[in-house]
Amino acid sequence: MESLQNKNVLIVGATGGIGEEVAKMMKNSKANLFLTGRDTAKLNALAEKTGGKAYTLDITDEQAVNAVAEKIHADIEQVDILINVAGLGVVKPFDDLTYEDFDRTIAANLRGPFNLLKAFLPAMKKAKKGLIVNLPGVLGKTPMAGASVYAASKYGLNGMLKSVREELRRTEVRITNLYLGGVDTPFWDEEIDIRFDRKKFITAKEAATAVWFLCQQPRSGVVSEMALQPFNHQAI
Ligand SMILES: NC(=O)c1ccc[n+]([C@@H]2O[C@H](COP(=O)([O-])OP(=O)(O)OC[C@H]3O[C@@H](n4cnc5c(N)ncnc54)[C@H](OP(=O)(O)O)[C@@H]3O)[C@@H](O)[C@H]2O)c1
Repeated sequence: MESLQNKNVLIVGATGGIGEEVAKMMKNSKANLFLTGRDTAKLNALAEKTGGKAYTLDITDEQAVNAVAEKIHADIEQVDILINVAGLGVVKPFDDLTYEDFDRTIAANLRGPFNLLKAFLPAMKKAKKGLIVNLPGVLGKTPMAGASVYAASKYGLNGMLKSVREELRRTEVRITNLYLGGVDTPFWDEEIDIRFDRKKFITAKEAATAVWFLCQQPRSGVVSEMALQPFNHQAI
């Protein structure tokens, strides 16, 4: 296993259910933390708890992403590990979806990760090393009724990352996609028109443990993907 001690780890969406747990685990592993989220109060509280540097950031804003990347790169040569755990879920029948639902889902789940790659990948390519972890989720490769727009964003993310990986073959920049099933986080609090039993979901801590595990895999190879799903989360 690769040690995380003193690694420069950027967690995008650290204010989320999974992100916060990842931040705590990275702190315990003595990583050098850079944290982003939109909720400044929550972000600052987490930064204080973990000793990380906080950057309020909406990843849909290309200029804001570039500005944060500039600030971070003024401090360090490159981010060793970029973990993108930002994203949003709109899950409802196609007939109920609005154009606004489409735009903001694609903006957060696909355009945002594109902005992050544009801003952070060049320094990794220059250094010829780095790890980028994203969470396309199982809905990034398996369809589900009610998930048309969400799946569109996550299938898109999956395709983009897999294609970029092909362009990185001559470097040691690694891209890992984690396909999670239902995780019990605030993600499911709103706008989800589906009957699931959240008690049967994976916990945020278990999901974060998978991320933490992936970040410690030997650099001689790449874990291209990993899937972690609950056994069953249908409501009875
Ligand atoms: N929960 C699940 O069942 C599940 C399953 C598979 C994959 N995933 C994926 O895992 C990731 C994290 O989900 P979660 O369950 O931890 O959700 P969550 O608790 O709702 O957290 C979402 C995070 O994304 C951030 N975010 C949302 N839109 C953003 C934007 N435009 N710019 C910057 N940050 C933004 C939020 O920031 P603020 O709170 O600061 O606004 C928050 O930190 C998402 O990509 C999701 O698609 C989740």
